[in-house]
Amino acid sequence: MRIRIILLASLLMALCGCQPEVPKEYADNAVAWRLADKTGCFMCHKPGKNLLGPAWDAVAERYRNDPDAEAHLMDKILNGGGGAWIDRNMPGYPENLLSEADRRILTKFILSL
Ligand code: HEC
Repeated sequence: MRIRIILLASLLMALCGCQPEVPKEYADNAVAWRLADKTGCFMCHKPGKNLLGPAWDAVAERYRNDPDAEAHLMDKILNGGGGAWIDRNMPGYPENLLSEADRRILTKFILSL
């Protein structure tokens, strides 16, 4: 019964367009896109555009041949910090804000751009 209500609620949300719009070119990465949107990453980042933080496709470009990239970015999103791009700190996202699994989804998404 409970499950049915939850399913119905998500169906209604999908139908009424309450889900944030995912740009067409990222349709294959809709889960990651919504996660980034919900977590607030887009306040400072977007693919294709430097905002407060570096454009995510520029990040992907920089680490393209770096075998440690995934570990580095996982750590950076967890702990925050600065100096890699600009003299400004990225806020950290501890486990209570962003689970390790979600951090991995975002990291893989960013590196895939
Ligand atoms: C308040 C602004 C802000 C928010 C919100 C933010 N970032 Fe950042 N981010 C930055 C800044 C500033 C940098 C550059 C840090 C540096 O130069 O080392 C950065 C850098 C990065 C980098 C590159 C790190 C490196 O070492 O090369 C990644 C990847 C990244 N952010 C992912 C994310 C993700 C994922 C989120 C959401 C969970 C997020 N950011 C939210 C400001 C932000």
